[in-house]
Amino acid sequence: MKVTGKIHEIREEIKGWKKAGLTVGFVPTMGYLHEGHTSLMKEAKKQCDKVVVSIFVNPMQFGVNEDLDSYPRDLEADKVLCEQVGVDLIFHPQVEEMYAEGFCSFVDMDGLTKELCGKSRPIHFRGVCTVVNKLFNIVQPHKAFFGQKDAQQLAVICRMVKDLNMDIEVIGCPIIREEDGLAKSSRNTYLNEEERKAALILSKTIFMGEELVRKGEKSSIKLLSLMREMLASEPMAEIDYVEAVSMDTIEKIQILEGNVLVAIAVKIGRTRLIDNFIATI
Ligand code: PAJ
Repeated sequence: MKVTGKIHEIREEIKGWKKAGLTVGFVPTMGYLHEGHTSLMKEAKKQCDKVVVSIFVNPMQFGVNEDLDSYPRDLEADKVLCEQVGVDLIFHPQVEEMYAEGFCSFVDMDGLTKELCGKSRPIHFRGVCTVVNKLFNIVQPHKAFFGQKDAQQLAVICRMVKDLNMDIEVIGCPIIREEDGLAKSSRNTYLNEEERKAALILSKTIFMGEELVRKGEKSSIKLLSLMREMLASEPMAEIDYVEAVSMDTIEKIQILEGNVLVAIAVKIGRTRLIDNFIATI
């Protein structure tokens, strides 16, 4: 497994693979890898001949009061996990390699980014779209793998690829959870013991909501108020949002029909956690 932070080395390596007729799968990450990330790599390995993983904590997608500086990093452990899964190439650039002096070009999106996480993180998706676009241009993969854990991000990337005619197939992969239900996240490491217990209210609420929809609930008002009630039963939980939207447009919906995304964001102590379920009704 090769590890490099240099764009020209990535290009050279991948050019060689493509010349040999091999397909390239790509998994963009911010590192501090866990089984959520490795599930994407395993899927990429299944579907493609070669797998590239990027590890880059992208400053552009963090707001001023967010956790850019404290975001967990452990490149050595990340390398071990990637090696175990059979990743072929890690791209681990420095900020200066990605954003050279004078950088001033961005990818912005009007729709899809206004609701859910876009409300409390107004510059987040501009940073995500810009960096993912850059990474796609550097790696030029056949397929790119994203987790449903960040469902709005997945929808935004699918839209960007379509709108900008990128010749890349985006593959969405299911949420990987801890044994007790909590969705795996690099940010779970911020939680102390008491907060870790309290954080279970997210997955409990998601499972309850999913069950109600499965049993035929069609009213988003009813569903969301029951979900809010459940979240409120945990004194440490501070709700950011509980919403039902169309998975394709990320616009709020009243009646649960079609491709529905039910998503929540909750602060436990100082840590903001997200979870969701998607239902096709
Ligand atoms: P990061 O949070 O490191 O996540 C990288 C990928 O792993 C994303 O596609 C995310 O949805 C997926 N992932 C994280 N936890 C998961 C889980 N529990 N189950 C399944 N998939 C999971 O998302 C980002 O980084 C960044 O925004 C990035 C796309 C790399 C751009 O900087």
